[in-house]
Amino acid sequence: MEEKILPRHIGIIMDGNGRWAKKRHLPRTAGHVQGARAFRKCLRYCADLGIECVTFYAFSTENWKRPQEEVDAIMKLFSDYLDEGLGMSEDDIRMKFIGDPSPLSEPLKAKMQDLTERSSANKGTICCIAVNYGGRDDIVRAVRCLVRSGASAEDITEESVSEQLDTAGLPDVDLLIRPSGEQRISNFLIWQAAYAEYVFMDVLWPDFKEKDLDLALEEYARRNRRFGGI
Ligand code: IPE
Ligand code: IPE
Ligand code: MG
Repeated sequence: MEEKILPRHIGIIMDGNGRWAKKRHLPRTAGHVQGARAFRKCLRYCADLGIECVTFYAFSTENWKRPQEEVDAIMKLFSDYLDEGLGMSEDDIRMKFIGDPSPLSEPLKAKMQDLTERSSANKGTICCIAVNYGGRDDIVRAVRCLVRSGASAEDITEESVSEQLDTAGLPDVDLLIRPSGEQRISNFLIWQAAYAEYVFMDVLWPDFKEKDLDLALEEYARRNRRFGGI
């Protein structure tokens, strides 16, 4: 069988939860509950496929604009997931969190740190969850970090900035998947996905199944990446 070209790093914008709920005359939060289930399934499948790293966009720096009760519901689902992760000792997934954690609650931050540490020796897929993440914010924080460490103008290079981003040490994004029919990046991994292949899909995130990831991977394998060359 022909060997499939798999992306090393997949980015997924988990979008469409609200519309999924609306179609069913359910509250938006019901869409987030179903979206969290789709996330678990998708992560499991990525791990089974042996994907090196997958980053899920869970909450953007702009999502604070939503009604407080929706924000609270999303944070609660996130917290439940962390509790579940903390209870699973046999799993080989390495957990990582990106984004600015400072406005998150103390218990949430503690759980994120705990799960990161507890899974740090795992050798399987890296699951990176973006919470209060914005690509612009990531770059601004990285540059601030360099300036604070005394970097001169010449010290600011693509490499030195990359090393300060939340994704330091991870490969650049190869495949970026956005379900829900929207065709935009919404401030996700804007630096890291500079040369990613984008796959936009009409499925709403809560309906996203293994077969949808297969379709995106097939599309990726068909693309001809040139990186500016010929
Ligand atoms: C994505 O689904 C979840 C978050 C942004 C947290 P949405 O809630 O944006 O769903 P739509 O886009 O309104 O359908
Ligand atoms: C992007 O979705 C953020 C996440 C999925 C976490 P949004 O629903 O917030 O994006 P826009 O507002 O449609 O661009
Ligand atoms: Mg949306």
